[in-house]
Amino acid sequence: MSHHIGAEPGQIAETVLMPGDPLRAKWIAETFLEGAECYSTVRNMFGFTGQYKGHRISIQGSGMGMPSASIYTHELLAEYGVKTIVRVGSAGSIQDDVNVRDVVIGIGAATDSSMNTNRFAGQLSYAPVADYGLLSAAAEIAAGREGTTHVGQILSSDVFYGDSLDTYKKAAEYGVLAVEMEAAALYTLAAKFKARALTICTISDHIFKNEALPADQRERTFGDMVEIALEAVTR
Ligand code: ADE
Repeated sequence: MSHHIGAEPGQIAETVLMPGDPLRAKWIAETFLEGAECYSTVRNMFGFTGQYKGHRISIQGSGMGMPSASIYTHELLAEYGVKTIVRVGSAGSIQDDVNVRDVVIGIGAATDSSMNTNRFAGQLSYAPVADYGLLSAAAEIAAGREGTTHVGQILSSDVFYGDSLDTYKKAAEYGVLAVEMEAAALYTLAAKFKARALTICTISDHIFKNEALPADQRERTFGDMVEIALEAVTR
């Protein structure tokens, strides 16, 4: 096993869907995979492997924020030979025309985190981007389904409860669609380990309009996004 994942070599598939919430990982495995088996319960950050339409897929919780997501992403890529990770999560909209329930697919992730500033010794403003093949597959699959999907830049923030919305307003002026907390780290680590990564989010709240998705609708909208991710990785 690795430091934070209790799996033996070979127990994790080359393709992983990564929700933040470990109970979502359990729900995805039980709802969408056949023969799913739990390979890790370390810190209750559950991981499962099963089959989707004949393809071997794992679902691994990442926790919230880039430090936690980086730990699981690093161990999957460096120690378990994972080649593809798709984050499936929630995001807060910062655009007028990106509404609660919409799906956002992240081409690239701006960030207020100092992780990459430190990684590149302050010499480079690195642009973390999605894998183009996964991105175009997910965008095409989403376009053929009901519901509204946006494809564009997202913002990975270190802060959920900030003091001011000024940076989000500025980011919105520069076309950023929504704020979440993991994609920039995922995209950066995938690049480092020559793997493929994508982030797909459901809009759970609107940061400026103070709207939120009612709890009873979260599962269905989350399920739509998971289907897009599963179809994209098995295409
Ligand atoms: N994920 C869902 N809503 C969010 C928000 N408002 N800020 C950051 N991450 C989020």
